[in-house]
Amino acid sequence: MKPDLKQIQAPIATEMEEFEIKFRDFMKSKVKLLDHITNYIVRRKGKQMRPMFVFLTAGMTGGITESTYRGAALIELLHTATLVHDDVVDDSNYRRGFFSINALWKNKIAVLVGDYLLSRGLLLSVDNGDFDLLKIVSNAVREMSEGELLQMAKSRKLDITEEVYYTIIRQKTASLIASCCAVGASTSGAAIEIIDKMRTFGEKIGMAFQIKDDLFDYGEDEIGKPLGIDIKEKKMTLPLIYALNNASWLDKRKIIYLVRNKNEDKKSVNEVIEFVKKSGGLAYANEAMNRYFEEAMTLLTEFPESEYKTSLEGLVRYTIERKK
Ligand code: IPE
Ligand code: IPE
Ligand code: MG
Ligand code: MG
Repeated sequence: MKPDLKQIQAPIATEMEEFEIKFRDFMKSKVKLLDHITNYIVRRKGKQMRPMFVFLTAGMTGGITESTYRGAALIELLHTATLVHDDVVDDSNYRRGFFSINALWKNKIAVLVGDYLLSRGLLLSVDNGDFDLLKIVSNAVREMSEGELLQMAKSRKLDITEEVYYTIIRQKTASLIASCCAVGASTSGAAIEIIDKMRTFGEKIGMAFQIKDDLFDYGEDEIGKPLGIDIKEKKMTLPLIYALNNASWLDKRKIIYLVRNKNEDKKSVNEVIEFVKKSGGLAYANEAMNRYFEEAMTLLTEFPESEYKTSLEGLVRYTIERKK
């Protein structure tokens, strides 16, 4: 299947439409400023890959139910909250091809809007007694904060290893995508072994997803958020970690010096990028991403063929082939 989002969505097209209406409703607030900002967010929606993972997994493992919608909304609300916060943390002014919340309304407001979205997500589950979903997702929220903080600690010391990089991306990104698939399976009434298997599946996709995101930082594609911002934020990702591990002592010292002291200077950042490219860092990260992709696909083989399964495979492929 060609990884085209519209095509992938076909088996869950009506569900996604209904989901969007509900999602918009769940965000509503009587506070004028909040309502204004959540409207801004809704109008610039993202790829919605996480709800798609929820619905497709539910479809494949037993069937979409009413609670699947709430699970998908809970996760997309949390995801949106973390993006709003992430752009504050990363001091980033663009998101989804537009200005970020912090760029338009400043950090103070963005922090509170993120908290609001998080609380709306949690309340949605509490009000409906979805405690099994809350349990799956709350763990991911904890891990996401831990991952972001570990990343920050490492960007101060610049002593990150490949192993720590994997821990960071497992926590900050893969944990939520793992939750998508666990929530999908759980809301379809699947057995605990299936829920666990789908969680593992989602985790592998999440790893591939973040490696892809980190590769974007080195690319020239128009992806709707700033490029080259990782090095500027002293965030060392797999391509750079690999390049440094395979560099001479002298090169290593120089590149670390540039990342530490010249990270605001465009010319120096470009020098680092060129160094990574020359060292085969991008190819190496691509290989790692493909390994996670293969492992995820293998986990799907035991499920009987269905339109949901075919789309899920398409969505996994999209994860590593996407252009934004
Ligand atoms: C961005 O996720 C955050 C990361 C984990 C890298 P997406 O790329 O799925 O964001 P949207 O929702 O489509 O904008
Ligand atoms: C993704 O982190 C956001 C979270 C997982 C919380 P990044 O900072 O790497 O992602 P983008 O590139 O800004 O979307
Ligand atoms: Mg970040
Ligand atoms: Mg960011």
